[in-house]
Amino acid sequence: MTRQWWRLAGVVGLAAMAALLAGCDGGSGRPDPQALMEGEAIYKAECASCHGARGEGQADWRIRRPDGRLPAPPHDASGHTWHHPMAQLAAIVKFGMVPPHAPQGYASDMPAYGAKLSDRQIERVLAYIESRWPAEIHAQRAERLQKK
Ligand code: HEC
Repeated sequence: MTRQWWRLAGVVGLAAMAALLAGCDGGSGRPDPQALMEGEAIYKAECASCHGARGEGQADWRIRRPDGRLPAPPHDASGHTWHHPMAQLAAIVKFGMVPPHAPQGYASDMPAYGAKLSDRQIERVLAYIESRWPAEIHAQRAERLQKK
């Protein structure tokens, strides 16, 4: 009796471990907690000063300032970051607001991070931003990106 219990516990334990490992390699489509923590650290160090500690963006972010530049938009559910495919967001973070994401010569406060952050770091900071969107935003996003 006790031996069978142990065997059962072993099987359950292995299954749990396999599920955990599948989550870690991104197989489930969800980044592992370590990657998210790294993304959060990058966000706080590099992005929060403009996009806000909680991704709330700058005040009146839709209205151009007198110098013609836009304030930083929110990355949370109230913004439009979630409207865009990941590849496009990654390109904006890497290269800044340059064509094809903005007109030639467009003046923006958004820095280009290509020299500072690796592709992997950019992926992680975006994964962190994505991880904070509520479930209904994820659903709307999936629908929106499918139509394109
Ligand atoms: C100095 C301020 C500043 C910093 C720091 C900054 N941004 Fe931005 N960001 C902006 C502004 C301003 C815009 C809007 C650009 C425009 O439309 O002119 C923007 C736009 C963006 C966009 C495109 C708009 C959207 O939401 O889809 C993304 C993505 C983005 N930033 C991500 C980041 C990430 C990630 C970091 C940190 C690695 C970062 N930004 C750091 C100011 C900043």
